Amino acid sequence: MKKLTFKTTYADNFLGENFLSPIKKELEIAQEKIFAKTGAGSDFLGWVNLPSDYDQKELQQIKVAAKKIQKQSQTVVVLGIGGSYLGARAALEALRSPNYNQLEKKTPNIYFSGNTLSADAFAEIVAMIGQQDFSIIVISKSGTTTETAVAFRLFRKLLIDKYGRQEANQRIYAVTDKSKGVLKEMSNQEGYTTFVVPDDIGGRYSVLTAVGLLPLAIAGINLDDLLTGAQEAQKNLKKGNLQNPAWQYAGARQLLARKDKTMEVLSYYQPRFRQLSEWWKQLFGESEGKEQQGIFPASVELTTDLHSLGQYLQEGKRNLIETVLWCKKSQQTITIHEDKENLDKLSFLSGKTLDFINEQAFKATLNAHQEGGVPNFIVEIPEMNEWQLGYLFYFFEFSCALSAYLSGVNPFNQPGVEVYKQKMFKLLGKN
Ligand code: PA5
Repeated sequence: MKKLTFKTTYADNFLGENFLSPIKKELEIAQEKIFAKTGAGSDFLGWVNLPSDYDQKELQQIKVAAKKIQKQSQTVVVLGIGGSYLGARAALEALRSPNYNQLEKKTPNIYFSGNTLSADAFAEIVAMIGQQDFSIIVISKSGTTTETAVAFRLFRKLLIDKYGRQEANQRIYAVTDKSKGVLKEMSNQEGYTTFVVPDDIGGRYSVLTAVGLLPLAIAGINLDDLLTGAQEAQKNLKKGNLQNPAWQYAGARQLLARKDKTMEVLSYYQPRFRQLSEWWKQLFGESEGKEQQGIFPASVELTTDLHSLGQYLQEGKRNLIETVLWCKKSQQTITIHEDKENLDKLSFLSGKTLDFINEQAFKATLNAHQEGGVPNFIVEIPEMNEWQLGYLFYFFEFSCALSAYLSGVNPFNQPGVEVYKQKMFKLLGKN
């Protein structure tokens, strides 16, 4: 199976030859922190061996629950915020489509809610559900997150009004802590089907737990392939050497950060990767952005944004790193047809595929941005499928942990997220 590669060719003039040599010792220490659990946040390393050690009984239960939901409902509302929804949404869109709900299919529509306090967003989802049969998956590790809890109260009422309490409880699936939190208490009392977010896996590292797997199974996504891809990454990235692509990515970005490259832009050429870029931003932003440290993660969709943010990328402030997520092959092949009249003067493209044209845009942009003073990394995958995505998720997770340790912070906490919550609770009069 062809797999992910990481290239720094378009950053050579910023990194120099054998660029990893000066940071090798630090990478060894960071790797040791992950495997010997000697670094800050070592209680949250459950994701490291998750792909190979996945509890097969739980995996089976997830598949059974997904089948039941598929039978029960035309629509599923997934409630969760941050790490409790971004992974599932990223995978759904990357593997199926950003327009999954609009496309003809045999699996239920999936709406994501509980990730905003917008009344309009809530009302729109209610309108889209309409008279359809629906179920709820509520995902919250803490079981107390306000955005998710508020949405759960509202959607739970809709469900009870429609089906009565007993049947509503058969349509609610909770993914939460094994023993604590309000959601767990409610689940025990009401008899919801529950799945556990392991103690040692934080939200942004939880996509390959029930947090991501349950919604994905409902969309008919092959969980075994997703986990097998992640297992392969787990095996490969364990090797502590300079050929390890995660070492190269983490090492290169930290070396550039030390040269005042303070912002990293993930660019991609497939709209289906938009939510994947949102997942990536949370992963790196929440893991590294602390103690006045961190590379600010942003993203652009290309070629679309070449006609908006492209100007900034080419000539704006030179504190940027660009990481291109390049997928060699689209799921569809579309060829530009011959047109003898050539009124549009596009015949130089006749017979060429859109993938080919997109690739030339990618190559041209790499050159242009490098010339403009932006070092470019390439994360290349041969195609997008479950196996490749499992590998990619793990690659980014592992690189992020290494990179955060290189910068001297705890990759697995998020103390800053509490500040707005305390101020909001005060305003809202929460005891
Ligand atoms: O990555 C994280 O830990 C956070 O983004 C959480 O996932 C997010 O705050 C939601 O938390 P919870 O699952 O407890 O509702």
